[in-house]
Amino acid sequence: MFAKMTSIGAYVPEKILTNKDLEKIVDTDDEWITKRTGIKTRHIAKDEVTSDLAYKAALNALKNANMQPDEIDMIILATISPDYFTMPSTACVVADKLGIVRPAVDIAAACTGFIYALAQAKAFIQSGMYKNILIIGAETISKIVNWKDRTTCVLFGDGAGAAIISATENKEEAIIDIDINADGKYQDYLITPGRGVKYGCETDRIWLEMKGNETFKVAVKTLSQSVRDILKRNNLTSEDIDWFVPHQANYRIIDAVARAIKMPKEKSVLTVHKYGNTSSASIPMAINEMVNIGKIKKGDLMLLDAFGGGFTWGSALVPFN
Ligand code: COA
Repeated sequence: MFAKMTSIGAYVPEKILTNKDLEKIVDTDDEWITKRTGIKTRHIAKDEVTSDLAYKAALNALKNANMQPDEIDMIILATISPDYFTMPSTACVVADKLGIVRPAVDIAAACTGFIYALAQAKAFIQSGMYKNILIIGAETISKIVNWKDRTTCVLFGDGAGAAIISATENKEEAIIDIDINADGKYQDYLITPGRGVKYGCETDRIWLEMKGNETFKVAVKTLSQSVRDILKRNNLTSEDIDWFVPHQANYRIIDAVARAIKMPKEKSVLTVHKYGNTSSASIPMAINEMVNIGKIKKGDLMLLDAFGGGFTWGSALVPFN
């Protein structure tokens, strides 16, 4: 038994925050943000929380697959901005919104969450345990960034993406390979210190903190290695890839990795200018956008990569069906 990506869906909240809007909030300017990150706008959730975005992305993926919620055997949801820290999981809240009683679990792999969720879904399906798994990356990062910290608040945005991973006997449609990694020695580089039991109420450091420069360097190095490894062990080169769909954190990281693997610019998917860094949601949102404008088509081979807090990072070779 193999696992395939059956469908994709996404949702973004309506409100758009431009770089010009940000100039009124922190000491920054459009030129700095554009030059360093490529970001122009991001969507911000006002009255919605992460499960609302996740639910709408899930409905979209179900509609695109022509499936009903009760055909889903399990939900795996990746987020760093859950409705509740500790419990219940946002996946449980989404299952309830969908009206299904099924195994549902959140995973914490930061911006690499979608690739980790994909790896878990693939393993569950290949084991024969489940037939259809809904994986979701959903974030309202606007609610965990410090809007007084210009070094972080300009970078992120809100959104959700969902995919249905299904069993297939057709190897041609199957997810080819997934590479996931983590190195906890970088735990302090990208962290929300005050939202767990270690510091808890003893600190007011409840917002996302990042050592941007260091994160940038490790991201480029580890991502380049991961994509080189996955291509090599599957006897593929960048010429065999139809679409490079990287995590949308920063166009300079995307560009550096694309150069390292000799990926032509026209094959690299870029949506960061519109949505900023939406963490675990960025890859499914980017795939969805490219499908909607008719670029990614059935049978196209996608190379995904992502990097995030932990640090975690990974890549995947996924045909679009
Ligand atoms: N507007 C204007 N100036 C800003 C600013 C902002 N929003 N944020 C920081 N600055 C200033 C800094 O204070 C610093 O000023 P100084 O030289 O007077 O001290 C200067 O810009 C340069 O800061 P630095 O942090 O060295 O910039 P950089 O070139 O590394 O760019 C990032 C900053 C965050 C864009 C870059 O490091 C990056 O992209 N890192 C990776 C982040 C990421 O993708 N994280 C998520 C991974 S999933």
